[in-house]
Amino acid sequence: MSGTRGRFITLEGIEGAGKSTVLQHLQSVLEARGLTSLQTREPGGTPAAEQIRELVLHGIQEDLAPDAELLLIFAARAQHLARVIRPALDAGTWVICDRFTDATYAYQGAGRALPATRIAELEQLVQGDLRPDLTLLLDLPVATGLQRARTRGSSDRFESEQLAFHERVRACYLQRAQQDSARFAVIDATQSVEAVRVAVLAALQEKTGAAVLAAGGTS
Ligand code: TMP
Repeated sequence: MSGTRGRFITLEGIEGAGKSTVLQHLQSVLEARGLTSLQTREPGGTPAAEQIRELVLHGIQEDLAPDAELLLIFAARAQHLARVIRPALDAGTWVICDRFTDATYAYQGAGRALPATRIAELEQLVQGDLRPDLTLLLDLPVATGLQRARTRGSSDRFESEQLAFHERVRACYLQRAQQDSARFAVIDATQSVEAVRVAVLAALQEKTGAAVLAAGGTS
């Protein structure tokens, strides 16, 4: 237990951006600095929220209405925040989350054409003032990302969307990053794994600098 609140780091990007590799790297960097961290994901992160994830990504026997999808995602988020994210941050743990509300603006907002104002209202309701301290956006062309994602095997409801959907998702992410450059770091995900690692570390030090550097360590 630490007296200092943990930092909240989120990772975003289109399908096939290479988030998993970066998540592992981030966790090892924080560990090497003696920081306690927790890796989690959205939708999901608690048993109930994982059940909602399954419903949203795979288990639908009927055409899910966009607003129903949006509410399910925020229901999962409310549970995740209450049971995992907020308690961890309060205990001084750094939380690394694979996707968060920027994904809702990108996928349900830009992708499914739901109004951003509706998402903002739910964001306020569910999160209050809580926002990530740092968001790493792994950016790459849609065609490259989808090709990478396809090699992983069967597609979920989002991966099987058409190219134009993913182009809207990518454009929304980039626009959000531009509008909030203090929080976002955009990383070119077409680079080598090593170059991506270097960029992630630089972003971590730049955006959460004092906390990461003060903790010491080598990697
Ligand atoms: P992933 O964890 O493998 O990236 O899959 C999660 C999928 O869920 C991904 O296609 C994006 C989608 N998603 C949304 O549509 N809205 C959201 O708010 C979140 C967190 C994810």
